[in-house]
Amino acid sequence: MRVKLPATKPEEIREQGIFPNGFLPLPHPNHAEGGMVFPKFHIDEVKKQEGRGLTRFDLDFDLPDHFLPEFPAPIFLTTRPDLGDVSKGKLVTVMNYYELFNGILNPKQLEGLRLLLTPFPQQQFNQTEDRRTEEPSRGVVCFECHANGHTNASTHLVGDIRPQEFRHRIDTPSLRGVNIQRLFGSQRALKSVEDFTEFEQRAAYFDGDPVIAQKKGVNVLDRGSQVHAMAELQELLDFPPAPKLDVFGKLDAAKATESELRGQKVFFGNGQCSACHAPPYYTDNLMHNLKVERFYKPHMINGRMASADGPIKTFPLRGIKDSPTYLHDGRLLTLDDTVEFFNLILELKLGEQDKKDLVAFMRQL
Ligand code: HEC
Ligand code: HEC
Repeated sequence: MRVKLPATKPEEIREQGIFPNGFLPLPHPNHAEGGMVFPKFHIDEVKKQEGRGLTRFDLDFDLPDHFLPEFPAPIFLTTRPDLGDVSKGKLVTVMNYYELFNGILNPKQLEGLRLLLTPFPQQQFNQTEDRRTEEPSRGVVCFECHANGHTNASTHLVGDIRPQEFRHRIDTPSLRGVNIQRLFGSQRALKSVEDFTEFEQRAAYFDGDPVIAQKKGVNVLDRGSQVHAMAELQELLDFPPAPKLDVFGKLDAAKATESELRGQKVFFGNGQCSACHAPPYYTDNLMHNLKVERFYKPHMINGRMASADGPIKTFPLRGIKDSPTYLHDGRLLTLDDTVEFFNLILELKLGEQDKKDLVAFMRQL
């Protein structure tokens, strides 16, 4: 029998254990071990350009390539919208950044980019015997995961939850549009890109363990010069163009299709999406507790304890079609899945056409 879930109450879904498995928290590919894992296409390109190895001997990335963001992703600069994509179709690395960006960025920003592309030791990628690469490793670069200032869906475990089974898998967020945001990290809510840049290397790279960080060669960045330059570069990364949006971030009726316009109506109307995803960037720069645990009992999934996630940052939806997979742990593979998810957890009872239209709308943001 097919159960009509949105018509069923959260407690009934919980009691009957019929919450869709794909909506539950997603474990890391090896949750007990954790650590940074990169998609194979990224590993191959870095090997080709830099000769640097990012293959773990114990673990492969788990999500199929066709669900992941375009690679290499285009790069748009807030300072030079006239240029369009400045990546020239290449993965930006320390080998080609100067040639690509000299003359477009100022010297401080160029230095920021160089640091974002320079390898620093990390928990699994370092020179000690306690590493997860065959050969000693020089480490990883910021744009290993935030490839081309965007995301390639690389994953790891959040640094600041214990015990291990309660740690969240985290899907790399795009750095596009960090300049309009006020909270950084899905849960930590650090208040500036500078803070996050500093924290990421000092703590997240070493699972929040300062003693191991010392042993494996933590690279402490200088706040006044290095962190500042790195943050300034990140603040230049713009959302992708959205030619159908007007200056208020709403659809231009002359350019949009009927389905997109109907989707916009649902988004601002009975879908209630705009209560948290406010235009023009479709975020309220806050965190919300969606209380998804109303729908399931706590239980273990491949080493991950699925229980309450707590408050999570409202990720912006500008450019959202380019950043699969979705939610902080990447559990939802497509935008269609996100509509089904919110339809259920917000108890909206949207019709099939409304759901299709919502997806059509979000694809234009
Ligand atoms: C293993 C891949 C990986 C590497 C390497 C990495 N990041 Fe991240 N980054 C992430 C993930 C995953 C998050 C989300 C963290 C969270 O939800 O708490 C994140 C979050 C961020 C954020 C906040 C974005 C937001 O929307 O809240 C910034 C800024 C950032 N990283 C910058 C950097 C910088 C600078 C470096 C290099 C020092 C770096 N990252 C290296 C994966 C990575
Ligand atoms: C109560 C506030 C709230 C409402 C209402 C809401 N959202 Fe969200 N949305 C969030 C939060 C918080 C997240 C991050 C959740 C997470 O990562 O676990 C999110 C995440 C998303 C994402 C994934 C973003 C990403 O980068 O992975 C999409 C897509 C989305 N929402 C679409 C919608 C749609 C469509 C609706 C309406 C049907 C909606 N949201 C209603 C708060 C809300």
